[in-house]
Amino acid sequence: MVSFSVFPRRSAWLAGAVLAALSFGPASIQAQGNVGDPAAGKRPAVMVTPPAGPVNSATYTAPPEPKYDYVDALHKSFLFYWAQRSGKLPYQRLAWRGDSFIGLKGPHGEDISGGWFEAANTMKWGGPFAFTAMQLAWNVYEFGDAMKQTNELNEALAWVRVGAEQLVGLYTTDGTTERLIGLIGDSARVENGKIVDVDFGYFGPPEEYQQWVPGGQPPGVYYCEGSPTVNKGCSGIAGDYAAALALSSLVLRPYDAPFADRCLAAARSIYSFGTKYVGTYSDATKFPEQAWKNYQDWYGAATADDELALAATWLYTATKEKAYLDAATASAAKIDAFSEYSWGDKGIAVYILLNRIAPSAALQTQITTTFRSYLPGGSVKRTPRGLVWNEPKANTVIWGSLSYAANLGFLGLVHAKGSPGAPTDPTFATQLRTFAVQQINYILGDTGRSWLVGFGTNFPKSPYHKSSYNSFIDYPMRGQPQGNVGSDFLSATAPPNRFILYGALEGGPWETDEYVDNRADYTFTEVTQDYNAAFTGALAGLIDFYGPSKFKNASDCNLDLGWSHPNASAATRQPKYTKGDCYHTCDPCMVELSTPGLGAVVTNGVPSTTSINPGSTPPTTGTAGGDPSQPADQPAKGNSTESAAAGSFFRTPAAIITAILVLGGVALVLG
Ligand SMILES: *[C@@H]1O[C@H](CO)[C@@H](O)[C@H](O)[C@H]1NC(C)=O
Ligand SMILES: *[C@@H]1O[C@H](CO)[C@@H](O)[C@H](O)[C@H]1NC(C)=O
Ligand SMILES: *[C@@H]1O[C@H](CO)[C@@H](O)[C@H](O)[C@H]1NC(C)=O
Repeated sequence: MVSFSVFPRRSAWLAGAVLAALSFGPASIQAQGNVGDPAAGKRPAVMVTPPAGPVNSATYTAPPEPKYDYVDALHKSFLFYWAQRSGKLPYQRLAWRGDSFIGLKGPHGEDISGGWFEAANTMKWGGPFAFTAMQLAWNVYEFGDAMKQTNELNEALAWVRVGAEQLVGLYTTDGTTERLIGLIGDSARVENGKIVDVDFGYFGPPEEYQQWVPGGQPPGVYYCEGSPTVNKGCSGIAGDYAAALALSSLVLRPYDAPFADRCLAAARSIYSFGTKYVGTYSDATKFPEQAWKNYQDWYGAATADDELALAATWLYTATKEKAYLDAATASAAKIDAFSEYSWGDKGIAVYILLNRIAPSAALQTQITTTFRSYLPGGSVKRTPRGLVWNEPKANTVIWGSLSYAANLGFLGLVHAKGSPGAPTDPTFATQLRTFAVQQINYILGDTGRSWLVGFGTNFPKSPYHKSSYNSFIDYPMRGQPQGNVGSDFLSATAPPNRFILYGALEGGPWETDEYVDNRADYTFTEVTQDYNAAFTGALAGLIDFYGPSKFKNASDCNLDLGWSHPNASAATRQPKYTKGDCYHTCDPCMVELSTPGLGAVVTNGVPSTTSINPGSTPPTTGTAGGDPSQPADQPAKGNSTESAAAGSFFRTPAAIITAILVLGGVALVLG
């Protein structure tokens, strides 16, 4: 899709003038203090200039040795997704996040509990969710080997699995009517003719959503639909889902062929649904609800050619069926001009992938032109300290500027790889890698401060994120009206976030590199699923570039995941990791966690249960996703001394692999 605005916003809860203009939210909640109004180009009154001085990007060269610990950053980037995770947790990685939205089903039996939340809120907008799922799989597809050698592959695969499991069950058909859930959650509703914030007006933890959310209702479920009499198609969303599922099938196939088959079958059906019922959620006559309207406001899309092209490209890669390649080429030819890579604009990614399948001068010209515009001397501006700044207007902020830079960095590393269609000019390939190094190093500390929470020097303390501030284990304003909770959340005098939101990539600075570490200035401090997605891949790409042997493996050792909080013991279930688990503990490695050695985890002892709540059933991930046509994993005949459910779940080899992928390669026993 090509977004309506060049720099689309994320779903930040809008305050101030923007809020009033859109009649959003309780007017009583206004951001207070030193807050700018980026929509109007108004700077916050006071901003911090980062300590390091300006750089000359034209003469910048990549340091010969890694300047930052990209493995540690990668480890933390995955931790961010634990903060966002929805549904029943396989184990509780963070003391301050537990089960949420468990057991929630759509009207046709779909499991809508899983996956992860978009940002500060608990929304699941279908397209951006699936883009994130696709990207997390693409990271593994390109740089899985670097992840494997640094012990991060199992975790990476676990997230591919989580995304695919949520998506695979969202499409259903009874043979006549096809349905695809395209949106989960109510950002706002219309009540008595007035727009009332629901999810956007909720500032508490996901674990207590239904208890305190305005209206007290479960998240709404919104469909795209097609039948002989109904054409309510959403081709862009369908393209995003199909791309994510086709690529997930490729990435997961070596570990779980039956699940990969299921992903691929769903990808085919959803792609066909998206091309048969052509349409977009931007069509307000067919998608009139307020939740869809908000989707259009935050993630508006005019066209779906790039989504359909990307889906067909990954379907071709997964099946080698020429019809998909032809379809990809035909859709790619219709893509509008692009100048970025993002949740909404995938044209450059499509061109790179198609050029790899069948190298072509026309594609290469377009790819090269796009990259060159971002290289020093190109048309894209830079901040004084070297961040690319693709916004011609002066005195403004770009939502997610760091993520746009990281996304291009990822693609540059992909394109520079020695695969078919890679640049034959070695200078250009070097420039692409240098670009990625410079942009990622900007993020990790080159300006004298880090933009990645919990990493490096002077990292952000007040990200615009609700549950790391109001956690289910520390929520002093529990029970108060959400208007008050929101005012406190947005108040400049309120404390920093109570828990460290490790690995979250923030939005980014003002065009001068200045910033404010303040929740209320959410253009700087917002975090989202998609900001981290290709950034994660760029980190893996840099590990690949410098060589995995240059790095130590990372672990949770010495991270403050909240377990020392006085409320942690009563309300939470701290995992007891297996001795020798060097991924989660300070132990020296004894458990083999690399993927081919999956079995080794099991020989170290079958987990008694993976459930956080005693007495509840373990995750039946092989069957999650809610497609009722799928048979459940047949429990093998067993005689477990563990809980019966856990015993049966862990017995079949496929289930063992499933469990391990979900657990991120950890054997653990919950106390
Ligand atoms: C990192 O982990 C991988 C996978 O478990 C292992 O093969 C490698 O030896 C480890 N590297 C270091 C430096 O310990
Ligand atoms: C948890 O801890 C904080 C401060 O340490 C306290 O204010 C809060 O009320 C406690 N309890 C709950 C259930 O959030
Ligand atoms: C199950 O285990 C018990 C206790 O070890 C044993 O007596 C019983 O014969 C076993 N049953 C099966 C079916 O293996």
